[in-house]
Amino acid sequence: MLVHETEPYNAEPPPGALLAQLTPLDTFYGRNHGPIPRIDPARWRLRVDGLVDHALELSIDELRRRFPERKLVATLQCAGNRRADLMEFRDIPGQVPWGPAATSTACWSGVRLADVLASAGLRREAAHIAFTGTDVSQQTDPPAPFGGSVPAAKALSDEVLLAWAMNDEPLPAAHGAPLRVVVPGWIGARSVKWLQRITARTEPSDNYFQTEYSILPPEADPRTAAPGDGITLGPIALHCAILQPDRDARLPAGPTEVTGYALAGEDRTVARVDVSPDNGGSWTHADLDAPENPWTWQHWRTTLTLPAGETELLARAWDSTGAVEPESPATVWNPRGYANNSWAGLHVTCHT
Ligand code: MTE
Repeated sequence: MLVHETEPYNAEPPPGALLAQLTPLDTFYGRNHGPIPRIDPARWRLRVDGLVDHALELSIDELRRRFPERKLVATLQCAGNRRADLMEFRDIPGQVPWGPAATSTACWSGVRLADVLASAGLRREAAHIAFTGTDVSQQTDPPAPFGGSVPAAKALSDEVLLAWAMNDEPLPAAHGAPLRVVVPGWIGARSVKWLQRITARTEPSDNYFQTEYSILPPEADPRTAAPGDGITLGPIALHCAILQPDRDARLPAGPTEVTGYALAGEDRTVARVDVSPDNGGSWTHADLDAPENPWTWQHWRTTLTLPAGETELLARAWDSTGAVEPESPATVWNPRGYANNSWAGLHVTCHT
Protein backbone atom coordinates (compact mmCIF):
# COMPACT_ATOMS: atom_id res chain seq x y z
CA MET A 1 0.00 0.00 0.00
CA LEU A 2 1.07 3.58 -0.57
CA VAL A 3 0.53 4.98 2.94
CA HIS A 4 -0.09 8.74 2.77
CA GLU A 5 -0.63 9.08 6.55
CA THR A 6 -0.44 6.60 9.42
CA GLU A 7 -2.61 8.56 11.91
CA PRO A 8 -5.26 8.85 10.71
CA TYR A 9 -4.57 5.92 8.39
CA ASN A 10 -4.89 6.95 4.75
CA ALA A 11 -3.59 4.57 2.11
CA GLU A 12 -4.17 3.47 -1.49
CA PRO A 13 -2.95 0.34 -3.30
CA PRO A 14 -0.59 0.45 -6.29
CA PRO A 15 -2.79 1.13 -9.37
CA GLY A 16 -2.15 -2.38 -10.80
CA ALA A 17 -3.93 -3.88 -7.76
CA LEU A 18 -7.21 -2.45 -9.09
CA LEU A 19 -7.24 -4.63 -12.23
CA ALA A 20 -9.38 -7.30 -10.53
CA GLN A 21 -13.14 -6.73 -10.46
CA LEU A 22 -13.30 -7.22 -6.66
CA THR A 23 -10.53 -5.67 -4.58
CA PRO A 24 -9.02 -8.03 -1.97
CA LEU A 25 -9.52 -6.70 1.57
CA ASP A 26 -5.80 -6.21 2.18
CA THR A 27 -5.49 -3.86 -0.79
CA PHE A 28 -8.81 -1.99 -0.43
CA TYR A 29 -8.02 1.73 0.00
CA GLY A 30 -8.48 3.25 3.46
CA ARG A 31 -9.70 6.79 4.14
CA ASN A 32 -10.06 7.99 7.74
CA HIS A 33 -10.49 11.28 9.56
CA GLY A 34 -9.68 9.96 13.03
CA PRO A 35 -8.34 6.88 14.79
CA ILE A 36 -10.00 3.56 14.00
CA PRO A 37 -12.31 2.93 17.00
CA ARG A 38 -12.33 -0.35 18.93
CA ILE A 39 -15.94 -1.52 19.23
CA ASP A 40 -17.20 -4.56 21.15
CA PRO A 41 -19.77 -6.02 18.70
CA ALA A 42 -21.63 -7.74 21.58
CA ARG A 43 -22.36 -4.39 23.27
CA TRP A 44 -22.79 -2.34 20.10
CA ARG A 45 -26.30 -1.10 19.20
CA LEU A 46 -27.54 0.87 16.21
CA ARG A 47 -29.94 3.68 17.13
CA VAL A 48 -32.54 4.81 14.55
CA ASP A 49 -34.30 8.02 15.58
CA GLY A 50 -35.51 11.48 14.49
CA LEU A 51 -38.58 11.69 12.25
CA VAL A 52 -39.73 8.10 12.78
CA ASP A 53 -42.84 6.77 14.54
CA HIS A 54 -40.81 4.55 16.87
CA ALA A 55 -37.09 4.85 17.52
CA LEU A 56 -35.15 1.56 17.29
CA GLU A 57 -32.12 0.13 19.06
CA LEU A 58 -30.79 -2.87 17.14
CA SER A 59 -27.97 -5.32 17.75
CA ILE A 60 -26.23 -7.01 14.82
CA ASP A 61 -28.14 -10.23 15.60
CA GLU A 62 -31.46 -8.35 15.51
CA LEU A 63 -30.55 -6.75 12.18
CA ARG A 64 -29.73 -10.18 10.77
CA ARG A 65 -32.91 -11.77 12.16
CA ARG A 66 -35.43 -9.04 11.35
CA PHE A 67 -34.46 -8.04 7.81
CA PRO A 68 -33.69 -9.99 4.61
CA GLU A 69 -30.01 -10.18 3.73
CA ARG A 70 -28.92 -8.56 0.50
CA LYS A 71 -25.61 -8.68 -1.39
CA LEU A 72 -24.43 -6.05 -3.85
CA VAL A 73 -21.20 -5.40 -5.72
CA ALA A 74 -20.38 -1.68 -5.54
CA THR A 75 -17.37 0.57 -5.96
CA LEU A 76 -16.44 3.03 -3.23
CA GLN A 77 -14.57 6.10 -4.37
CA CYS A 78 -13.16 8.94 -2.32
CA ALA A 79 -14.06 12.45 -3.51
CA GLY A 80 -10.31 13.18 -3.26
CA ASN A 81 -9.37 10.46 -5.77
CA ARG A 82 -6.76 11.81 -8.29
CA ARG A 83 -6.22 14.96 -6.24
CA ALA A 84 -2.48 14.65 -7.03
CA ASP A 85 -3.21 15.67 -10.64
CA LEU A 86 -5.00 18.81 -9.41
CA MET A 87 -2.03 19.58 -7.16
CA GLU A 88 0.30 19.49 -10.17
CA PHE A 89 -1.76 22.31 -11.64
CA ARG A 90 -1.92 24.29 -8.37
CA ASP A 91 -0.97 23.24 -4.84
CA ILE A 92 -3.62 22.19 -2.30
CA PRO A 93 -1.96 22.48 1.11
CA GLY A 94 -2.89 20.13 3.95
CA GLN A 95 -4.74 17.59 1.81
CA VAL A 96 -3.83 13.96 1.03
CA PRO A 97 -2.26 13.73 -2.47
CA TRP A 98 -4.36 10.78 -3.63
CA GLY A 99 -3.39 9.08 -6.89
CA PRO A 100 -5.91 7.10 -8.97
CA ALA A 101 -6.41 4.32 -6.40
CA ALA A 102 -8.52 5.99 -3.67
CA THR A 103 -11.22 3.68 -4.97
CA SER A 104 -11.96 -0.06 -4.67
CA THR A 105 -14.79 -2.50 -5.24
CA ALA A 106 -16.31 -5.10 -2.92
CA CYS A 107 -19.30 -7.39 -2.72
CA TRP A 108 -21.14 -5.99 0.31
CA SER A 109 -23.56 -8.00 2.46
CA GLY A 110 -26.08 -6.53 4.84
CA VAL A 111 -29.63 -5.25 4.89
CA ARG A 112 -31.40 -2.53 2.95
CA LEU A 113 -31.45 0.79 4.80
CA ALA A 114 -34.98 1.19 3.36
CA ASP A 115 -36.17 -1.93 5.26
CA VAL A 116 -34.82 -0.61 8.57
CA LEU A 117 -36.35 2.83 8.02
CA ALA A 118 -39.71 1.26 7.12
CA SER A 119 -39.65 -0.76 10.32
CA ALA A 120 -39.03 2.43 12.32
CA GLY A 121 -41.99 4.09 10.58
CA LEU A 122 -40.23 6.80 8.59
CA ARG A 123 -42.41 9.93 8.56
CA ARG A 124 -43.37 11.78 5.39
CA GLU A 125 -41.59 14.97 6.43
CA ALA A 126 -38.22 13.16 6.65
CA ALA A 127 -36.29 14.60 3.69
CA HIS A 128 -32.75 13.57 4.71
CA ILE A 129 -31.24 10.58 6.48
CA ALA A 130 -28.17 11.38 8.58
CA PHE A 131 -25.49 8.90 9.67
CA THR A 132 -23.15 9.24 12.64
CA GLY A 133 -20.02 7.15 13.13
CA THR A 134 -18.18 6.31 16.35
CA ASP A 135 -14.72 7.65 15.45
CA VAL A 136 -13.82 11.09 16.76
CA SER A 137 -12.03 13.40 14.32
CA GLN A 138 -9.57 16.05 15.52
CA GLN A 139 -10.19 17.88 12.24
CA THR A 140 -13.20 19.60 13.81
CA ASP A 141 -13.22 22.07 16.69
CA PRO A 142 -14.26 20.68 19.14
CA PRO A 143 -13.38 17.10 18.02
CA ALA A 144 -16.55 15.28 16.92
CA PRO A 145 -17.66 12.00 15.33
CA PHE A 146 -17.58 11.68 11.53
CA GLY A 147 -20.99 11.86 9.84
CA GLY A 148 -23.01 12.96 6.85
CA SER A 149 -26.38 12.50 5.18
CA VAL A 150 -28.12 11.63 1.94
CA PRO A 151 -31.56 12.72 0.74
CA ALA A 152 -34.36 10.34 1.77
CA ALA A 153 -34.98 9.39 -1.88
CA LYS A 154 -31.45 7.99 -2.14
CA ALA A 155 -31.57 6.41 1.33
CA LEU A 156 -34.76 4.54 0.37
CA SER A 157 -33.36 3.22 -2.92
CA ASP A 158 -32.75 -0.48 -3.22
CA GLU A 159 -28.98 -0.24 -3.43
CA VAL A 160 -28.22 1.53 -0.14
CA LEU A 161 -27.08 -1.03 2.43
CA LEU A 162 -26.13 -1.32 6.07
CA ALA A 163 -23.25 -3.74 5.55
CA TRP A 164 -21.55 -6.19 7.94
CA ALA A 165 -19.48 -8.12 5.37
CA MET A 166 -17.18 -7.42 2.42
CA ASN A 167 -16.28 -10.08 -0.15
CA ASP A 168 -18.03 -12.65 2.07
CA GLU A 169 -15.72 -11.93 4.99
CA PRO A 170 -16.72 -10.09 8.17
CA LEU A 171 -16.31 -6.33 7.74
CA PRO A 172 -12.75 -5.52 8.93
CA ALA A 173 -12.33 -2.95 11.73
CA ALA A 174 -10.56 -0.61 9.29
CA HIS A 175 -13.60 -0.59 7.00
CA GLY A 176 -16.21 0.09 9.67
CA ALA A 177 -17.00 -3.03 11.74
CA PRO A 178 -19.43 -3.93 13.05
CA LEU A 179 -21.65 -1.99 10.58
CA ARG A 180 -21.23 0.68 7.92
CA VAL A 181 -23.48 2.37 5.41
CA VAL A 182 -22.75 1.73 1.72
CA VAL A 183 -24.19 4.43 -0.56
CA PRO A 184 -23.38 3.14 -4.08
CA GLY A 185 -22.75 5.79 -6.74
CA TRP A 186 -22.13 8.54 -4.16
CA ILE A 187 -18.84 9.89 -2.84
CA GLY A 188 -17.24 7.58 -0.27
CA ALA A 189 -17.72 10.13 2.53
CA ARG A 190 -21.45 9.30 2.68
CA SER A 191 -20.69 5.61 3.35
CA VAL A 192 -20.22 6.21 7.07
CA LYS A 193 -18.18 3.56 8.93
CA TRP A 194 -18.59 2.37 12.56
CA LEU A 195 -22.22 3.44 12.29
CA GLN A 196 -23.86 4.19 15.64
CA ARG A 197 -26.86 6.34 14.75
CA ILE A 198 -29.27 6.96 11.86
CA THR A 199 -31.43 10.09 12.20
CA ALA A 200 -34.32 11.11 9.94
CA ARG A 201 -34.43 14.91 9.52
CA THR A 202 -35.97 17.70 7.47
CA GLU A 203 -32.52 19.16 6.67
CA PRO A 204 -29.17 17.64 5.62
CA SER A 205 -26.80 16.58 8.41
CA ASP A 206 -25.12 19.45 10.26
CA ASN A 207 -22.02 17.29 10.79
CA TYR A 208 -18.84 19.16 9.83
CA PHE A 209 -17.99 16.62 7.11
CA GLN A 210 -21.33 17.02 5.30
CA THR A 211 -20.30 20.42 3.89
CA GLU A 212 -16.53 19.90 4.15
CA TYR A 213 -17.04 17.58 1.19
CA SER A 214 -17.98 20.40 -1.15
CA ILE A 215 -16.57 22.19 -4.18
CA LEU A 216 -15.51 25.71 -3.24
CA PRO A 217 -14.93 28.32 -5.93
CA PRO A 218 -11.22 28.59 -6.84
CA GLU A 219 -10.78 31.94 -5.06
CA ALA A 220 -12.23 30.72 -1.72
CA ASP A 221 -10.03 30.12 1.33
CA PRO A 222 -11.04 26.74 2.82
CA ARG A 223 -9.92 27.88 6.31
CA THR A 224 -12.52 30.65 6.41
CA ALA A 225 -15.22 29.18 4.12
CA ALA A 226 -18.71 28.89 5.65
CA PRO A 227 -20.72 25.65 5.30
CA GLY A 228 -22.97 27.17 2.62
CA ASP A 229 -20.13 28.49 0.44
CA GLY A 230 -19.60 25.34 -1.60
CA ILE A 231 -21.51 22.85 -3.72
CA THR A 232 -22.12 19.89 -1.39
CA LEU A 233 -20.98 16.68 -3.06
CA GLY A 234 -23.30 13.73 -3.59
CA PRO A 235 -23.13 11.49 -6.68
CA ILE A 236 -19.66 10.56 -7.95
CA ALA A 237 -18.52 12.48 -11.04
CA LEU A 238 -17.92 10.57 -14.31
CA HIS A 239 -14.38 9.39 -13.95
CA CYS A 240 -11.64 7.22 -15.49
CA ALA A 241 -8.03 6.33 -14.70
CA ILE A 242 -5.15 4.51 -16.36
CA LEU A 243 -3.90 1.57 -14.26
CA GLN A 244 -1.25 0.17 -16.63
CA PRO A 245 1.46 0.87 -17.75
CA ASP A 246 3.04 2.45 -14.67
CA ARG A 247 3.41 6.23 -14.47
CA ASP A 248 6.81 7.29 -15.91
CA ALA A 249 7.46 3.72 -17.15
CA ARG A 250 10.32 3.09 -19.63
CA LEU A 251 8.97 0.78 -22.31
CA PRO A 252 9.93 -0.53 -25.76
CA ALA A 253 8.25 1.52 -28.51
CA GLY A 254 5.48 -0.35 -30.33
CA PRO A 255 2.35 -2.20 -29.22
CA THR A 256 1.60 -1.76 -25.52
CA GLU A 257 -1.43 -2.85 -23.53
CA VAL A 258 -3.10 0.07 -21.74
CA THR A 259 -5.76 -0.70 -19.12
CA GLY A 260 -7.83 1.20 -16.62
CA TYR A 261 -11.20 1.63 -14.93
CA ALA A 262 -14.08 4.03 -15.46
CA LEU A 263 -17.08 4.82 -13.27
CA ALA A 264 -20.01 7.03 -14.22
CA GLY A 265 -21.54 7.69 -10.77
CA GLU A 266 -25.11 7.46 -9.40
CA ASP A 267 -27.23 5.28 -11.72
CA ARG A 268 -25.39 6.10 -14.96
CA THR A 269 -23.04 3.69 -16.73
CA VAL A 270 -19.90 4.25 -18.80
CA ALA A 271 -20.66 4.09 -22.52
CA ARG A 272 -17.22 4.65 -24.14
CA VAL A 273 -13.59 5.24 -23.22
CA ASP A 274 -11.22 6.90 -25.71
CA VAL A 275 -7.47 6.44 -25.32
CA SER A 276 -4.68 8.42 -26.99
CA PRO A 277 -1.03 7.30 -27.41
CA ASP A 278 0.20 10.78 -28.31
CA ASN A 279 -1.24 13.42 -25.99
CA GLY A 280 -4.50 13.74 -27.91
CA GLY A 281 -3.08 13.67 -31.48
CA SER A 282 -5.09 10.52 -32.21
CA TRP A 283 -7.68 8.47 -30.29
CA THR A 284 -8.93 4.88 -30.28
CA HIS A 285 -11.95 3.37 -28.53
CA ALA A 286 -10.94 0.96 -25.77
CA ASP A 287 -12.67 -2.40 -25.21
CA LEU A 288 -14.99 -1.64 -22.33
CA ASP A 289 -16.46 -4.24 -19.97
CA ALA A 290 -20.26 -4.30 -19.82
CA PRO A 291 -21.55 -2.81 -16.57
CA GLU A 292 -22.13 -5.37 -13.79
CA ASN A 293 -24.58 -2.80 -12.39
CA PRO A 294 -24.48 1.02 -12.37
CA TRP A 295 -22.70 1.06 -8.99
CA THR A 296 -19.57 -0.78 -10.10
CA TRP A 297 -16.56 0.33 -12.08
CA GLN A 298 -16.06 -0.91 -15.63
CA HIS A 299 -12.56 -1.92 -16.70
CA TRP A 300 -11.29 -1.11 -20.17
CA ARG A 301 -8.24 -2.09 -22.23
CA THR A 302 -6.66 -1.48 -25.60
CA THR A 303 -3.34 -2.00 -27.37
CA LEU A 304 -1.68 1.24 -28.45
CA THR A 305 1.34 1.59 -30.71
CA LEU A 306 3.58 3.89 -28.73
CA PRO A 307 6.06 6.14 -30.55
CA ALA A 308 9.76 6.26 -29.55
CA GLY A 309 10.60 9.05 -27.10
CA GLU A 310 8.54 10.68 -24.37
CA THR A 311 4.78 10.63 -24.69
CA GLU A 312 1.65 11.33 -22.69
CA LEU A 313 -1.08 8.68 -22.74
CA LEU A 314 -4.57 10.09 -22.28
CA ALA A 315 -7.94 8.51 -21.48
CA ARG A 316 -11.40 10.08 -21.34
CA ALA A 317 -14.77 8.51 -20.52
CA TRP A 318 -18.27 9.14 -21.84
CA ASP A 319 -21.37 8.12 -19.89
CA SER A 320 -24.80 6.79 -20.81
CA THR A 321 -26.21 10.34 -20.92
CA GLY A 322 -23.62 11.38 -23.56
CA ALA A 323 -21.58 13.49 -21.13
CA VAL A 324 -17.78 13.44 -21.42
CA GLU A 325 -15.11 14.29 -18.85
CA PRO A 326 -13.61 17.81 -18.92
CA GLU A 327 -10.20 18.00 -20.57
CA SER A 328 -8.06 19.76 -18.04
CA PRO A 329 -7.48 19.84 -14.27
CA ALA A 330 -7.48 23.64 -14.66
CA THR A 331 -11.23 23.56 -15.38
CA VAL A 332 -12.12 21.59 -12.27
CA TRP A 333 -9.44 22.77 -9.78
CA ASN A 334 -10.99 23.65 -6.41
CA PRO A 335 -9.39 24.59 -3.08
CA ARG A 336 -10.10 21.29 -1.30
CA GLY A 337 -9.21 19.22 -4.36
CA TYR A 338 -12.37 17.18 -4.75
CA ALA A 339 -14.01 15.46 -7.73
CA ASN A 340 -11.13 15.64 -10.19
CA ASN A 341 -12.75 14.05 -13.21
CA SER A 342 -10.55 15.61 -15.89
CA TRP A 343 -9.02 13.34 -18.56
CA ALA A 344 -6.51 10.85 -17.15
CA GLY A 345 -2.94 11.42 -18.31
CA LEU A 346 0.17 9.28 -17.86
CA HIS A 347 3.73 10.04 -18.95
CA VAL A 348 5.90 7.21 -20.37
CA THR A 349 9.25 7.06 -22.20
CA CYS A 350 9.65 4.56 -25.06
CA HIS A 351 12.95 3.33 -26.50
CA THR A 352 13.61 1.58 -29.81
N1 MTE B 1 -16.79 6.92 8.17
C1 MTE B 1 -16.26 7.29 9.34
N2 MTE B 1 -16.92 6.99 10.46
N3 MTE B 1 -15.09 7.96 9.42
C2 MTE B 1 -14.37 8.30 8.28
O1 MTE B 1 -13.30 8.91 8.39
N4 MTE B 1 -14.32 8.28 5.84
C3 MTE B 1 -15.22 8.35 4.69
C4 MTE B 1 -16.10 7.11 4.60
N5 MTE B 1 -16.70 6.82 5.86
C5 MTE B 1 -14.92 7.94 7.03
C6 MTE B 1 -16.14 7.23 7.02
C7 MTE B 1 -14.53 8.51 3.42
S1 MTE B 1 -14.04 10.09 3.03
C8 MTE B 1 -14.37 7.49 2.54
S2 MTE B 1 -13.75 7.78 1.00
C9 MTE B 1 -14.76 6.12 2.88
O2 MTE B 1 -15.28 6.01 4.20
C10 MTE B 1 -13.57 5.19 2.79
O3 MTE B 1 -13.93 3.90 3.16
P1 MTE B 1 -12.81 2.80 3.37
O4 MTE B 1 -11.78 3.33 4.32
O5 MTE B 1 -13.50 1.58 3.86
O6 MTE B 1 -12.20 2.56 2.00
